[in-house]
Amino acid sequence: MSASHRTHIYCREMRMKLEQEHENVLRGEDGEAMALAMKTLVAYGEAFGAKRLVPIKSAHLTGSFGISPFSAYYQILGRLADEGAKFKVPTTLNPRPGRDLNIINRLIFGRQKRLESCYSALGITPNYSCVCYFNANVPALGDRIAWAESSAVQYANSALGARTNRNSILIDVCGAVTGLTPEFGYLLDENRRGRVLVRIKIDRMDPPALGYIIGKTVVDRVPVIEHYPFSREELKNMGGAMAASGGVALFHVEGVTPEAPDMKTVFDGSPKETITITQADLDAMRSKNTEKIRHVIFGCPQMTADEAAALAERFAGKKTALPVWFCMIPDEMKQFEQTGLFRKAREAGVQVYDHCPLASLPVRKKSHTVLTNSGKLYYYLENTEYGATDDCLRACGVL
Ligand code: F3S
Repeated sequence: MSASHRTHIYCREMRMKLEQEHENVLRGEDGEAMALAMKTLVAYGEAFGAKRLVPIKSAHLTGSFGISPFSAYYQILGRLADEGAKFKVPTTLNPRPGRDLNIINRLIFGRQKRLESCYSALGITPNYSCVCYFNANVPALGDRIAWAESSAVQYANSALGARTNRNSILIDVCGAVTGLTPEFGYLLDENRRGRVLVRIKIDRMDPPALGYIIGKTVVDRVPVIEHYPFSREELKNMGGAMAASGGVALFHVEGVTPEAPDMKTVFDGSPKETITITQADLDAMRSKNTEKIRHVIFGCPQMTADEAAALAERFAGKKTALPVWFCMIPDEMKQFEQTGLFRKAREAGVQVYDHCPLASLPVRKKSHTVLTNSGKLYYYLENTEYGATDDCLRACGVL
């Protein structure tokens, strides 16, 4: 590093108090790329009023799609790797993008191998899933972590009671290589209290639809849903939708999630606002145009082996009328592949993948309308309709 560059890095206007060892990193003692990572983290924290950096237990990264326009990102990862930097905490990574699905994807994701070799040099845990929190990277109640990927952030904060902000791509890498995150937002008790009470008047629960409506309504406030016995997969799918249609990073469910033993505790008093979501609200989300559907997708966030098995039973002994994808957590897909239900799903015409469906369908014909029971995929993927699980099975002709 040149002397002038080093001086420029060090002579910042200090508002955040740093430990001496972190000042040393900032000064360039661990290399120029590490100094820039620390500088970025400090600037990020100062922008949000953080007073200090705190150690983290783990990181989760979102930059898993090797597309060519991200060349600056690959350069930064490459510089860190060339300087011998390593992730300081266990660090997992989002799904692969389905590069080998077709020739177009091979062109779009032409930097995938380069990206993965940089991550490997830095010491990634190669789980390749947004659902890291069921096995690859499971934080405990109260753990400070620095995760990106909105669907993973919401689960870690809400269902596990860990503490992370919704970090962006690159900020996530800075957290992983330094083992630190600025202390603000959802790391602080006062920002983890409930803000909006969500009453539910629902006969047929549809967690992704509920999450989607809550996200749209509360945007980035902390909702508290009155008691419902959601499974962990339902929390995953509801939270993923909430984090997409809104900016929700934390929600509570009365008597289910760890920071909401009862309403009084989670609100620290009474809620300032109450909303009610009804069966009619959920039903209004369901597609009325199923005749134009050309493709049905399950698994965003990616599916567990239990979810895949439950769906596969519905396909057993039948033939799907449309292309249908199960997108699964890679390790869970390996388990599922060992089962008879996997064979039955394949015989019915189901394609089972371990990539991210959103990344793998960037270019489609306009007539290629997708139906999904994922609130998140419905929000992000163009030309997509939402259906409850049974709507999707009906569109496949197996119900
Ligand atoms: Fe995961 Fe891709 Fe959906 S990263 S949450 S499967 S958009």
